[in-house]
Order: sequence, then structure tokens, then C-alpha cells
Amino acid sequence: MSNKIIIAIDGTSSTGKSTLAKRLAKKLKYLYIDSGAMYRALTLYAIQNKYISKSHFDSQKLIEDIPNIHIDFQYNQQNNKYEVHLNNNSVEKHIRSLKVSNLVSQIATVGELRKHMVKVQHFLGSKNGVIMDGRDIGTVVFPNAEIKFYLDASLELRAKRRYKELIEANYKISFDEVLSNIKLRDNQDINRKNSPLKIAPDSIVIKTDSFTLDELEEKLLSYISPKL
Ligand code: CDP
Repeated sequence: MSNKIIIAIDGTSSTGKSTLAKRLAKKLKYLYIDSGAMYRALTLYAIQNKYISKSHFDSQKLIEDIPNIHIDFQYNQQNNKYEVHLNNNSVEKHIRSLKVSNLVSQIATVGELRKHMVKVQHFLGSKNGVIMDGRDIGTVVFPNAEIKFYLDASLELRAKRRYKELIEANYKISFDEVLSNIKLRDNQDINRKNSPLKIAPDSIVIKTDSFTLDELEEKLLSYISPKL
């Protein structure tokens, strides 16, 4: 019988974390949890309730509202995908907009909100056999994960990848907007006080620039397989 483990994938934006995590989850029959989608859903809630905009952020109101915010993943039979839900509505189509992307890292600085997200992530990942990607999975959410990856790539390449993805998904966005958003989020994610993005000491660090997705999948699997 194979050993069901926790696989943590952290790293900067657009390094291929979620694409690889999805592929691996399918191959290993593991549950995939996109922790970034949870922060994005929380940000959408804050925007809808006017707790955050370009010029103001009432973090206290958002914290007080935590009991009214239910975020989880539900299976969509039409497209065979798990989608992030905010209070039982799929918000998958709304969370990748530039508006959400430009505010999410500010929301993610707040310790009380992070504490709640981690609680939900522990609950969702309580049965082993989980791949979770994000910024603090190997350092804070699952510090005892059996295997941890940290993915990185050059800024230019990451921006190109994300721009292509967003254009293919019909978002009206310019390359410069994507580039500035990635720079902004990198800066906020790395420099925040609460659970900053950093490399866990026991992480396997991979620069993804010069590899195809197939090569990366194979590479990650070569580290995972001996642990199963
Ligand atoms: O897809 P991408 O890597 O660009 O971002 P994401 O995974 O959707 O995460 C969006 C934002 O949520 C990040 O830039 C972080 O500010 C925040 N986040 C976080 O703080 N901790 C996590 N575990 C996951 C995301």
C-alpha cells in the first residue's frame, strides 16, 4: 500500500506551481488545494463589501466578518474541475481579474485573516494525500510536509507566462499591467511581517526557466516517488 503524504509547493507568482500541482494531483490521485484561490476569494468578498479599494482598506471590518465568509472547493461536473466557492457560489471566473490581483497581497498581509485561512487549509488538507500550493505552505501551513518544493523563475518569463494565460482566458489586460502586478505582489509577499514568502530550509529549490512542463513534472516526481 502506498504512503499518502503532504506535498507543499511554494514560490513566486507564475512559476508554474498550480499547473504542476494539478498535474501531479491527477497522476497521484491526490487532492489539490490552491491556497492562492482562497486569498483571492477573500479579496473578492472584501471588494464586494467595500472593505477594500485602491485607496482604503478596513481590515478590522473584514476580520469581524470572518464568521460570514465561507470558502471551500466544490466539484463542477460540467468541466470536471474543483472550483473555489465563496459562500456556496463559484467565484473561479472572477478571482483572476486585475482588480483582485492588485489587492490580494494587501489582504494577505493581515495576520488575523491568515490565521483563519490556515485553519481552513488544515481542515481541507486533514486527510493525507494532499498537494497544496501557495506562499507559506512549507513554512507555516504544513511545516511537517513530507516533501517541499520552492519554484522560481525570472521576472520577465513569469510575466510573459501570466500574460499569455490571461489573454487566453479573455481578460483585457496589457503586458505592462501584468508585469507591474507581479512585481507588486512579489514585493508585498516577500517583505510582509506575517508568514512572508521564503524558502523553507528543507525545500527543494527549482528554477523553472529552462524546463518544459513535462520535464518539470518528471523532475518533481523523481523527488516524490521515493517517499510514496
Ligand atoms: O497564481 P499566483 O502565483 O500569481 O498567485 P496565487 O497563488 O493565486 O496567490 C495570490 C496571492 O495570494 C499571492 O500573491 C499572495 O499575496 C497571496 N497568498 C498568500 O499570501 N499565501 C498563500 N499561501 C497563497 C497566496
